[in-house]
Amino acid sequence: MRNIVILISGGGSNMAAIVNAAQREDWSGRYGARVAAVISNKADAKGLLFAREHGIDTEVLDHKVFASREAFDAALASLIDRFDAPGTPALVVLAGFMRILTSGFVDRFAGRLTNIHPSLLPAFTGLHTHQRAIAAGCKFAGATVHLVSAELDHGPILAQAVVPLLADDTADTLAARVLTQEHLIYPQAIAELLHKR
Ligand code: GAR
Repeated sequence: MRNIVILISGGGSNMAAIVNAAQREDWSGRYGARVAAVISNKADAKGLLFAREHGIDTEVLDHKVFASREAFDAALASLIDRFDAPGTPALVVLAGFMRILTSGFVDRFAGRLTNIHPSLLPAFTGLHTHQRAIAAGCKFAGATVHLVSAELDHGPILAQAVVPLLADDTADTLAARVLTQEHLIYPQAIAELLHKR
């Protein structure tokens, strides 16, 4: 059985959607994988509570105690490796993990490292995507699931969801509409990726 390790920094609602999908009877065959661990760089990330309540191992690795980005990423990689299934490396899923990763880390997990970003990539990489989509006068917004490559918010696109951008939208209302779609496409994209491999 393939293991999934999910990395979060906050609320963890995408992580929860993936855990729910993987644990649901009718999805379990499709997944053929289990969420083995949830790792956060923040001890107070709310998502850790959900993971613990669902019987999933949780780990906290505080980036602030490391002298460099490289040192944090090396420790994170070692931690992730502990959750490989025998003979099968884990799939590493970034779900609201708000850290820029070094190219060394990305290379090490190449092909099995996914991310969800709250925009229709390649538009609006980086932060404040919803505010920027509103400011640009976009008529549509959305989210993208992609394999991670060394360049921030780049890499082969696995899935996208599109939502209308309404005249009275604020960044918050748009974020909420997009997030609902994120919860659908991320578990589905992971199922498809696992199936392909
Ligand atoms: C999601 O909207 C995700 O797309 C975004 O953070 C939110 C996390 O929510 N990710 C990024 O901005 C990464 N660049 P969640 O913790 O409830 O899943």
